[in-house]
Amino acid sequence: MSSRQAGGVPVRVRAPAKINLYLSVGDLRPDGYHDLISVFHAVDLFDEVVISPAPRWAVRTVGASGVPGGVRNLAGAAARLLGRRTGAGSPVAIEIIKQIPVAGGMAGGSADAAAALVGCAALWGTELTRDQLTEIAAELGADVPFSLAGGTAVGTGRGDLLAPVLTRMPLHWVLALAEQGLSTPAVFAELDRIRERGDPPRAGGLEAMLAALASRQPARVGAALTNDLQAAAISLQPALRRTLRAGMAAGALGGVVSGSGPTVALLCESADAATALAADLAGSGTTRAVRIAGGPAPGARVVGRG
Ligand code: C5P
Repeated sequence: MSSRQAGGVPVRVRAPAKINLYLSVGDLRPDGYHDLISVFHAVDLFDEVVISPAPRWAVRTVGASGVPGGVRNLAGAAARLLGRRTGAGSPVAIEIIKQIPVAGGMAGGSADAAAALVGCAALWGTELTRDQLTEIAAELGADVPFSLAGGTAVGTGRGDLLAPVLTRMPLHWVLALAEQGLSTPAVFAELDRIRERGDPPRAGGLEAMLAALASRQPARVGAALTNDLQAAAISLQPALRRTLRAGMAAGALGGVVSGSGPTVALLCESADAATALAADLAGSGTTRAVRIAGGPAPGARVVGRG
């Protein structure tokens, strides 16, 4: 991999949140991960990350608390790893402007890492291929390759082996944000405990979801939404059951806990239906806040310089 030093102008990158339309979790592997099959779907709720040349490494978050700084921040780790791999790595200051809920099951940390990779590659003028960048992304976390790719994709392995799903159907979502976040490892561990007590049914129906996405009928996507982690997320935050019920009662085509939760994603027939459902749900007392989002959205990309 070769590189050359580019100019000193800050680079602005946007990276999307994701919803898992389908998530089937297999058994725990010796490396501490679970094999899974997921249909990832990027939505237009973005974190913006600004990468600037700086005398020393720094990470700062605007608009949210609870995001680690310094080397414990995944965006900072991404920048340093890319620097080591390319030999480019002069120090940068990373500013993260957060819109994606923190610890919400929407891959916000992975989005920031993907954005840092894209931004540093542009700032340093590295000549990496997309595949090389994706390999580095997979070292940082299971969801980071999808945050780079965006769109809609089937993920296998740890979720990092991606195959795009070619669907142009726009999907309209209402996201119900919870008071407290959930830790991804804690939710996977809770699923392992639930399964030790008696194996609950595992998600089937990947074909149903793929056929629904090809059909251009959002109601079929709503009916095919499924997530093996949902029972574990509800076990740790029982109030999520009420949020899901309130969303369905308000007319959603389907609802699902996104990834490890606690964000609940509710699918609507149209943009107008999403606006109406968001208003109903906000008044239901079952959610801290609501957001409207549409998908599929593009992956991490440079949106400006300077
Ligand atoms: O890769 P990432 O750091 O995002 O994963 C966070 C944690 O989620 C892992 O340490 C693991 O406990 C859990 N996980 C898993 N199986 C996956 C993805 C994540 O068990 N396929």
